[in-house]
Amino acid sequence: MTKKKVLITGASRGLGLAISKKLAADYTLILHASRQESFTTEIPGSYLLCADLADTEQLNDFCKMLKKEHGDDLYAVINNAGVTFDKPLMYQPEREIDAILNINLKAPIMICKTAMKIFSMNKTGVIINMSSVVGQTGNAFQAVYSATKAGMAALSRSLAQEAANIGEGHNIRVLSIAPGFIETDMTERIPAAEKEKYLNMIPAKRFGNVDDVAETVAFLLSDKASYINATSININGGLF
Ligand SMILES: NC(=O)c1ccc[n+]([C@@H]2O[C@H](COP(=O)([O-])OP(=O)(O)OC[C@H]3O[C@@H](n4cnc5c(N)ncnc54)[C@H](OP(=O)(O)O)[C@@H]3O)[C@@H](O)[C@H]2O)c1
Repeated sequence: MTKKKVLITGASRGLGLAISKKLAADYTLILHASRQESFTTEIPGSYLLCADLADTEQLNDFCKMLKKEHGDDLYAVINNAGVTFDKPLMYQPEREIDAILNINLKAPIMICKTAMKIFSMNKTGVIINMSSVVGQTGNAFQAVYSATKAGMAALSRSLAQEAANIGEGHNIRVLSIAPGFIETDMTERIPAAEKEKYLNMIPAKRFGNVDDVAETVAFLLSDKASYINATSININGGLF
């Protein structure tokens, strides 16, 4: 039987790589990273697409390529790629603000736009957008990042409602997931004292690992999750 196709952005490392490994047996994967050299782990049978999502031209070419090469049988999109440059907003250079907005929010919006066109023709599809706990709570020194992550949750809820208006017989789900503190390159940079502070706020008494998130994504893509839509799933050990 032909496997359904799933696009995972930011699949070279961290959460994206763990999600790719988890889904590899059940789906044909379209893996994305900013550049070819980023792919250091091979996932046999997958397609590789590269684009710097901060660059509008590359983003538009990426969306065109996705529709042209994979539009016929694309089943799901995991908008996972993201960056954070932590500092007080008053000291954040505009180029960093633009990069966070473009990579974390504009690119997922444009990829969702492409996916919605594809899914409305195929009459089926799932989008999972990567939000974050800080999109709900806010976080000092992550003002722009937090704004993009709140945006991912709102984008998902809105698109799920749009999908409901496409027409009879369509089955399109749009969700976001909101990880808490997961151990990856992104959180590696946080100072030890800060990490200790977060650990004390997590009832599970541990940081999350990438598999906690990958398992959730695999479930949300499956038919077992067919009644879960237009919501955000927290994966945070109870962080508050
Ligand atoms: N780790 C956490 O605790 C946590 C918590 C909540 C939410 N999240 C979210 O989860 C997602 C993945 O986080 P992570 O911790 O796995 O991050 P990570 O280890 O830093 O990986 C980031 C991924 O994004 C890609 N990326 C970065 N800049 C890009 C650009 N300009 N164009 C295209 N791709 C780019 C990277 O590709 P290259 O290798 O090519 O640079 C990489 O694959 C992010 O959206 C993050 O905000 C993470």
